[in-house]
Amino acid sequence: MNIIKDAKRFVRMENIGYGVYDQLALFNKRKNPQLANRYKKIAKDEFNHGRMFKAYLKNKYNINSRISIWIFLGRLSAFFFSLKSKENYVKFLSDKESDAVIRIKQIINSGELENSPYLKCYKAILNDEIDHSKVYAEFYAKSL
Ligand SMILES: [Fe+2]
Ligand SMILES: [Fe+2]
Repeated sequence: MNIIKDAKRFVRMENIGYGVYDQLALFNKRKNPQLANRYKKIAKDEFNHGRMFKAYLKNKYNINSRISIWIFLGRLSAFFFSLKSKENYVKFLSDKESDAVIRIKQIINSGELENSPYLKCYKAILNDEIDHSKVYAEFYAKSL
């Protein structure tokens, strides 16, 4: 595994995620405060995950990451996809989170990162990502 490339990808994805969920929290603030709070919490998680990978790149490799562009792209995609079908979009996001959980577990179990401090980043985000993958089931699937 190329750790630098992988960590950069995480900085990108986590901050896009932050933008997406924070924007969804804003959209749902009035209509569904419970769902908005759920999104708010996930947004906070994603922001912290992004910050952790960003810090890793900075401390270990002295690489600076810019995040504002990814956050903006996240907000933009939440805006456009929500115009089409909110439910499909939430399903898409929950599926993405499930895929991430599978990938993270594979890496942790593969032993590939054994003895690498980078493994800690993966372990730190695993439970949050499992939690994120449940939003669709919690708010939409049960109403079918
Ligand atoms: Fe995350
Ligand atoms: Fe997530």
